[in-house]
Amino acid sequence: MCQFIKHFLYFCRTMDSFSVFILLVLFMNAFMTFTSEAKVYMVLLDKASGGSSKNTKLLLRNQEKIASFKEKMAQEHDAFLESLLSRSAYTKLYSYTHLLNGFAIEVSSKEDIDTLRNAEGVRTIHEDVKMEKMTTHTPDFLGIPTGVWPTLGGARTSGDGVVIGFIDTGINPFHPSFMIQSSTDTSRGIYSKPTKYKGKCASGEQFPPTACNGKIVGAQYFARAAVAAGEFNATRDYASPFDADGHGSHTAATAAGNHQIPVIANDFNYGYASGMAPGARIAIYKALYAFGGYMSDVVAAVDQAVEDGVDILNLSIGPSKVPSGPSAFLNLLEMELLFATKAGVLVVQAAGNGGPSSSSMLSFSPWITSVAASITDRRYNSSVRLGNGQSFSGTGLAPPTVGEVFFPLAAAADVGQINSTDGLLTIDSCQSSEQFVRSLVQGKIVICTYTLDFDSEASGIATVADTMSKVGAAGFILTRNPDIGFEQIKGAAVTLQVPGVILNNMEASSALWEYYNANTIRSRNGRAIGFRATARILDGRRAIYTGQAPTVASYSSRGPDVNNELLENADVLKPNIMAPGSSIWAAWSPNSEGDAHIKGQIFALLSGTSMATPHIAGIAALIKQKHPHWNPSAIISAMTTTADIADQTGAPILAQKTKQISAATPFDFGGGAINPSRAIDPGLVFNINFMQYVKFLCSVPGVDDMSVRQAVGVSCPIQKTRCSDLNTPSVTVSKLIGSRRILRKVTNVGNADEKYMLIVKEPLGVKVTVIPQVFKISVNASRRITIQFNATEATNAYTFGEILMLGEKKHVVRVPMAVYVSSTIG
Ligand SMILES: *[C@@H]1O[C@H](CO)[C@@H](O)[C@H](O)[C@H]1NC(C)=O
Ligand SMILES: *[C@@H]1O[C@H](CO)[C@@H](O)[C@H](O)[C@H]1NC(C)=O
Ligand SMILES: *[C@@H]1O[C@H](CO)[C@@H](O)[C@H](O)[C@H]1NC(C)=O
Ligand SMILES: *[C@@H]1O[C@H](CO)[C@@H](O)[C@H](O)[C@H]1NC(C)=O
Ligand SMILES: *[C@@H]1O[C@H](CO)[C@@H](O)[C@H](O)[C@H]1NC(C)=O
Ligand SMILES: *[C@@H]1O[C@H](CO)[C@@H](O)[C@H](O)[C@H]1NC(C)=O
Repeated sequence: MCQFIKHFLYFCRTMDSFSVFILLVLFMNAFMTFTSEAKVYMVLLDKASGGSSKNTKLLLRNQEKIASFKEKMAQEHDAFLESLLSRSAYTKLYSYTHLLNGFAIEVSSKEDIDTLRNAEGVRTIHEDVKMEKMTTHTPDFLGIPTGVWPTLGGARTSGDGVVIGFIDTGINPFHPSFMIQSSTDTSRGIYSKPTKYKGKCASGEQFPPTACNGKIVGAQYFARAAVAAGEFNATRDYASPFDADGHGSHTAATAAGNHQIPVIANDFNYGYASGMAPGARIAIYKALYAFGGYMSDVVAAVDQAVEDGVDILNLSIGPSKVPSGPSAFLNLLEMELLFATKAGVLVVQAAGNGGPSSSSMLSFSPWITSVAASITDRRYNSSVRLGNGQSFSGTGLAPPTVGEVFFPLAAAADVGQINSTDGLLTIDSCQSSEQFVRSLVQGKIVICTYTLDFDSEASGIATVADTMSKVGAAGFILTRNPDIGFEQIKGAAVTLQVPGVILNNMEASSALWEYYNANTIRSRNGRAIGFRATARILDGRRAIYTGQAPTVASYSSRGPDVNNELLENADVLKPNIMAPGSSIWAAWSPNSEGDAHIKGQIFALLSGTSMATPHIAGIAALIKQKHPHWNPSAIISAMTTTADIADQTGAPILAQKTKQISAATPFDFGGGAINPSRAIDPGLVFNINFMQYVKFLCSVPGVDDMSVRQAVGVSCPIQKTRCSDLNTPSVTVSKLIGSRRILRKVTNVGNADEKYMLIVKEPLGVKVTVIPQVFKISVNASRRITIQFNATEATNAYTFGEILMLGEKKHVVRVPMAVYVSSTIG
C-alpha cells in the first residue's frame, strides 16, 4: 500500500487496521469514433505526473498539499493551453494529474489540434473514443464460506477495510445488498469508513448524502465528455452516482454485496445472495451511461479512483474491437492501467463474450487479469408434462400451473381473432394481447412460437408472459420455429410471473405439435372447435445441482490473446483465470432503462464474462486482505498457479465449443477455475515490476523504442529480452523455431522454508528441460528457473503442457505452457 502512495506519507503513518484498496469495475466496449463536429482529445504531456514524480514525494505530506498540487497542475495545464490557443477555441474537460499528466479538451478546429500536436512538451494526443457496455450460488460453489471466510473472521468481516472501486454505471444505494443491515454490524465497525480512503461522496438526484453509509464509502460521476457530445440526458442518466442501468449494482453486489440477502424476483424467493467479500467497502466512479460512455470520462474516473486509494481495478467492459497494429498495447487506457498497476492496483477485466472462436479476447495486456466465464452446476429445470404422459424440459424461471391438474392446450392461432393481423405481427409470436379472444384463451395453456417478431429474445419472452397474463391464459409454451436457425432460445434468465416453459429442443417442439394436432377437433373450415390435448407446467424456479461443473461457457472469449498477429507474437497467455459467469443472481436497479424485461426488479439473473470478473475482484480483495503487501502480479500469480483444472467430480474441466464439448485448454480458461482457498496460500509467486513490463513492451515485435517512450515516458533498456521472458506464471511461445531458453523467477511467499520438486508435462513437439529440477527456497527468498524448449516436431498448431512445482509442505504450483512449433531447425 504505502509503496504506491509513498508521497502520501501522512496516510501511511496513520494506517490503522484497515488496508485500503479498491477494485474498480470498468464497463467499456466499443472503440468507435465519434462524429460530432467538436471533438474531444486526450493530451498527454511530457513531464511525469504528480502521482509518480519523485521530487513531489517529500512535498506532498498531507491532503491540503495534494489538493494544492493538483490545483497547481491544473493551472499549469490552463496556462499551457492559453499560451497556444485562443481561449474561445477550446473547453478543457479534465486535468489528469495522478496517473497521467495531461488533459482532455474539446476543440473544433483541426488547426488547433495540430498546434497542440506540434507543441513542445506534448507527448501524445489521442482522440476520444466512444465505449459501450457489454453485459448466489457462487460463493458456495467456490468453496468460499468454508475455505476462506473462516480464515478472515467470518463472512461479514471478509474483505473488511478493503475498498472496492467500481467504474461502471453507478450504484443503487437503496438496495439491501448495500444497505446497513443491523446496528450490531455498525457497532462492530463494519460500516465505518476506512480512514485511508479519501474519495468524495457526491450527492445528487436519487443519491442523498446518506447513500454513503459506510458500506458505500465514496461516490462520484464523470460525464463531461458525454455532456460535450450531447449524449448525456439528465432525466434518463441522472446527474449523480445513481445507477440508472443496473449493471453497476449487479457487479458491485457480486464482488462486495452484503451477506445473506434474499433474492426476490417476481414475488419468488430464489435463494440468498452474497458478495465474494461481504465485508469490503464500495467506492463508485460512474462513467458509463445508457448509451455507453467516453474514454476521456473513463480515464478521468480511473485517475481519480487510483488517487483516492485503489488497489484493484475491475473492468467489466472491454473494447468491442481491439485496436490493431503495434499501437494496441500502447493505447491510452492500456497505458493508464499499466500506471495503475505500477501504483499497486490490480486490474481485473472481462475476457470478452466473443467465444467460442479462437483469438476472440478483448482483454489482452499482460498487466491485466483477464477473466473467462464458466457455467456452474446450478440449473433451473422447467418442464411441461403432457396429457399423454410425455415430459419435456426447457428453460424459463416461471411458476407452475395451479394444482396438479391438466389444462387444455391451444395454439395461439386457434384462440385469436379470425381476421387477426396487427401490421406484420403474427399471432403465433404472442406479442400482442389485442389479437386474442379472451373467452377462448381463458384457462388454457397457449402454444406460442419464437418468430422474428421478437425484439430481442429476453424482452420478447417477457412480452409473451405479459400477453398471457392480460388475456387470462393458464400458461404458455414457447416452441421453436424450424425455419429460424437459432441455436437456442436464450430465455433462461427472464423471471416470469405466469407459468411458462421455453422448449429449446427441436424434437420436443415437434412432438408437442404432433400431440396437439392429433387431439384438436376442427370444423370443416379448419377452425379449432375442440381442445382435447392437455398439459401442466411444473415449477421452473427451483434450482437443481448437477454436481458436474465448472464448464467453460460457450460465449467466453478464447486465447491465444487477440486476433492480431502482433499481439500473438507477444507470447502472452490469455485469458488468465476463470470464474462463474453464467446465470449469476445479483442486485439490480429497478429504474433500469437498459433492459425492459427486468424493469422494476431489484434482482437480475445475468450471464457473461462481465459477471465472472467481479468474482475475481472480490476474491482478489480477500487475498489482499490476507496479504496486504502483495503487488498485483503476485495476486495474479497466486490465482493462476493454484486454479483447478479438474471439475467437482475429478474429471478434466470441459469447454463448450461450437458443436461439441471437449477438454478445456489454457486458451479457454488460463490457469483454470479459481480456487479461492488455495489462492490465498500459493507457496510460490512470480513477481513482475513496472520496468519489467516496460522491457516487455520494448521487446514486442513491431513496437519501436520511440513509441514506448511516448506512451510510457520511459526509455527502453539497451539490453533487449524476449517477450516470453516476462515473469508470468505461464509460458507461451507463439513461434518456436528450433530452441528457446525461457527465464523465470519464483519467490517463496509461504511462512516456512520449502523444498520443491519440478515435474514437466511436455507439450507435443517439444522437449522441455527445467533447471533446477529440485530446489530448496527460504521464506521471502527468490530463485531463478530456466526452462529450455527444444523443438522435436513442427506441429504447426498450439499444443499444451505444464510444469508442476510440488512443495514438500503440500504447495502445488502449476504453470501452464502453450507452444506453437513452426520449425525444428533454428
Ligand atoms: C431524456 O430521457 C427521457 C427519459 O427517458 C426522455 O423522455 C426524453 O425524451 C429524453 N430527452 C432527450 C432530449 O432525448
Ligand atoms: C468486474 O468486471 C466484471 C467484468 O469485467 C464486471 O462484471 C464486474 O462488475 C466488475 N466487478 C468489480 C468488482 O469491479
Ligand atoms: C427436469 O425435469 C424433467 C421433468 O420433470 C425430468 O424428466 C428431467 O429429468 C429433469 N432434468 C434434470 C436434469 O433433473
Ligand atoms: C375482425 O373481426 C371482428 C369480429 O369478427 C371485427 O369486430 C373487427 O372489426 C375485424 N377487424 C378487422 C381489422 O377487420
Ligand atoms: C517475509 O516478508 C514478510 C512481508 O514483508 C514479513 O512480514 C516477514 O516477516 C518476512 N519473513 C521472514 C522470515 O523474513
Ligand atoms: C536444446 O537446444 C540447445 C540450443 O540449441 C542445446 O544447447 C541443448 O543441448 C539442447 N538440449 C536438448 C535436451 O536437446
